[in-house]
Amino acid sequence: MCGIVGIIGNKPIAEDLVEALRRLEYRGYDSAGVATVEDGKLVRRRAEGKLRNLEKRLLSDPLQGHIGIGHTRWATHGRPTEVNAHPHMSATVSVVHNGIIENFRALKEELTACGHVFESDTDTEAIVHLITDEMQKGASPTKAVEHALSKLQGAFALGIIFSGDEDMMIAARKGSPLAIGHGKDEMYLGSDAIALAPFTPEITYLEEGDWAVLRRSGVEIFDVESKPVKRQAIRSVASSLMVDKGNHRHFMAKEIHEQPEVISHTLANYIDMSKAKVVLPDLGVDLVTLPRVTISACGTAYYAGLVAKYWLEQIARVPVEIDIASEFRYREAPMPPGGLAVFISQSGETADTLAALRYCKAKGQKIASVVNVRTSTIARESDSVLLTLAGPEIGVASTKAFTCQLAALACLAIGIGRARGTISREQEIAYVEALLEVPRLISALLAEDGQFNDIAQHLSQARDVLYLGRGVSFPLAMEGALKLKEISYIHAEGYAAGELKHGPIALIDENVPVIVVAPEDELFPKTISNMQEVAARGGQIIMISDADPVAAGCEQAIHISVPKVNPLASPLLYAIPVQLLAYQTAVSRGTDVDQPRNLAKSVTVE
Ligand code: F6R
Repeated sequence: MCGIVGIIGNKPIAEDLVEALRRLEYRGYDSAGVATVEDGKLVRRRAEGKLRNLEKRLLSDPLQGHIGIGHTRWATHGRPTEVNAHPHMSATVSVVHNGIIENFRALKEELTACGHVFESDTDTEAIVHLITDEMQKGASPTKAVEHALSKLQGAFALGIIFSGDEDMMIAARKGSPLAIGHGKDEMYLGSDAIALAPFTPEITYLEEGDWAVLRRSGVEIFDVESKPVKRQAIRSVASSLMVDKGNHRHFMAKEIHEQPEVISHTLANYIDMSKAKVVLPDLGVDLVTLPRVTISACGTAYYAGLVAKYWLEQIARVPVEIDIASEFRYREAPMPPGGLAVFISQSGETADTLAALRYCKAKGQKIASVVNVRTSTIARESDSVLLTLAGPEIGVASTKAFTCQLAALACLAIGIGRARGTISREQEIAYVEALLEVPRLISALLAEDGQFNDIAQHLSQARDVLYLGRGVSFPLAMEGALKLKEISYIHAEGYAAGELKHGPIALIDENVPVIVVAPEDELFPKTISNMQEVAARGGQIIMISDADPVAAGCEQAIHISVPKVNPLASPLLYAIPVQLLAYQTAVSRGTDVDQPRNLAKSVTVE
């Protein structure tokens, strides 16, 4: 988390630093700051809260330097105050940092004992004093950084500038992504290529352990052993246009409405339309003898993985092991030879998912990733990549990335099923046709989004909300609860409908809305029984279903009507009402929908 940028330019660059930071705000927005070198001295401006506060600060108190670094923060060490905002600096050196320095307490003690005075609670400030200390002992800036890097444990992407030098910036990467942008007589640094897109499409990604010295004339890169290395420059496809909200009030609304289009694009990537056939990239394993698929991901991406478990087991008849990445990586799960490990991530940078990937790679698994960012670390470290074509997702709550993950994973299950002979060609055609119908059905549902207003108004008064579902609808229930809590701050839990009577039913009374994800599939009669149990205890039922609640004997339920769809495709379609309910409830409560408190879009710390 946190976004970092750097520019060595030929005019005052503070405004450009802010422009680059705006494109990184998805990585954190607790505070922001920039530092430049003016008349040989380091100067900085910082502000608590969103980037607009920093912009105001710069308007009243501008910076003139032609070299500078910037930061947008997601707090890990120390509260989101101005004192803890980056850049951190001494008279000699200024640093922006993304990541966590695990040994910062030991470093701080050591440096304090040598007379260094810390002003913030951050781990980052230890880096500033470490470099300053080396320079006070006579080391050159590059040697000082090299020594300091060897003492840092943890994860970092760093941008570093020095007083008295307007033509040198040092960058370093360990565990957190970092891109270098090449301009004409100008150089750039950013947490991703999107931040640098307004300035240059020519990007070099630093590799794990690399550090680099940037000057207007170019860049020298060194590997983890400080040996000079060449890293290829590529042309980035990140759009230079700032992604905007169009006619929508929030990015989240725009992204919900983009789903018919982006799901179509994603499906088109894996389906040969002329033959109604799924075409997968080479996964590097023998699909016929594939012993197991291991899935790992976090948050919403994990729920997409849970849906995929049902699909892979039912359609491809392959055993699936799934866990959240932060648990999986420490479980020491045994891995069968010839197994496939699948990692799902919108950003492709989630630290826990990446660590789980590396664990599985070390255990000899073939790695496939379902990612939305082609150039991300997870994509680059995978043997095969199933790209989701959701486009940039700016709203912190994932919506279109989730349904595109589902689209890619459904194709994965069908493709593996065909290869293993567990489904016939006719079944493959039926599944493909069902998937191809989804964008049209979602459009129909979105056209009726007015039906959610009153229900959302009602939900916005609730203190607790339960979501229920069975089979593939169970992960949807958990996704619904996650979406509601993260943007409306209402407590919500998702349960398997059959599990209700084993405990959570004690929570039900007339004040607890119970949202039931209930497509009319083979499990529907059982879900209805669970709804009756809720109704008998006075719970308020909101039934998201293609079936009529009255005909189903649940006349007291409020009905959100969903078009009929082949059960395979129901998770993609039922994701929409779940997202709209959360969105409209949050709007009713007046929360910051796109940037909810305490969250960040890309979670690059453990
Ligand atoms: C919730 C949400 C998060 C992410 C999770 C993983 O709406 O967006 O739960 O799904 O942080 O992020 P990625 O997919 O980037 O690995």
